[in-house]
Amino acid sequence: MENILTATNLQAAYGQSTILWGVDFQVKKGSATTIMGRNGVGKSTLLKTIMGLVNVKAGSLKLYDEEISKLPPYKKAWKGMGYIPQGREIIPKLTVFENLKLGMEAVTDKKAKFPEEEIYDLFPILKDFKKRLGGNLSGGQQQQLAIGRILVSNPKLILLDEPTEGIQPSIAQDIAQVLKRLVKEKGISILLVEQKIDFAKQVTDYYYFMDRGKMVMEGSKETMDHSTVSKYLSV
Ligand SMILES: Nc1ncnc2c1ncn2[C@@H]1O[C@H](COP(=O)(O)OP(=O)(O)OP(=O)(O)O)[C@@H](O)[C@H]1O
Ligand SMILES: [Mg+2]
Repeated sequence: MENILTATNLQAAYGQSTILWGVDFQVKKGSATTIMGRNGVGKSTLLKTIMGLVNVKAGSLKLYDEEISKLPPYKKAWKGMGYIPQGREIIPKLTVFENLKLGMEAVTDKKAKFPEEEIYDLFPILKDFKKRLGGNLSGGQQQQLAIGRILVSNPKLILLDEPTEGIQPSIAQDIAQVLKRLVKEKGISILLVEQKIDFAKQVTDYYYFMDRGKMVMEGSKETMDHSTVSKYLSV
């Protein structure tokens, strides 16, 4: 299968402080890839750099065969890249429906219709809570809303940063099922940042371990187990 995303020696910094020291990894089209690693190693910075929210200092980033390292975020969105930040960033004072509708802002095709029912099919709770304010949802429901809002723009590649952080296990279970469906039924590619191995293992096909701004290990999900992972998570 071809790569939808390929990073080669990707480097990024905040001012003088380099965070990504040369990251190499790939996402196969129609698969889910997970990046794991301890707090502060640069996982979120990597997703922001991929999306164009942090500048690439050196190296290459390709969407299929196209070099995209210098493109601004909105152009990446046009090309089918959707980013869901850590902490989700839904709008608390807007209703669930209004938050979802915001996803249409990223859609350039004026004839495209708002796929409201498709989102409710994936996340029935959002239909029940359609008129509720986003800020009144639980953390897990907000995460579902954030994923729903990105799906409105029909992305081909989703960058998803720690969706299970601080949410209850039953909702994490629902989210895992939805992510699997997105890959299987819709052929969407997913780049997931996740620290919970049980969740990652359910969703992902391939994984990378990041440490201090570099990939230090990789493998297929069969090789992902607690002892291997804890070796890199500790120390
Ligand atoms: N806007 C910023 N300006 C300067 N430094 C930053 C900025 N954002 C993050 N950093 C630093 O970059 C490093 C990597 O942070 P990043 O958020 O990418 O880590 P992470 O792996 O996502 O961590 P976590 O698991 O806690 O989410 C940290 O040392 C952090 O303090
Ligand atoms: Mg992070």
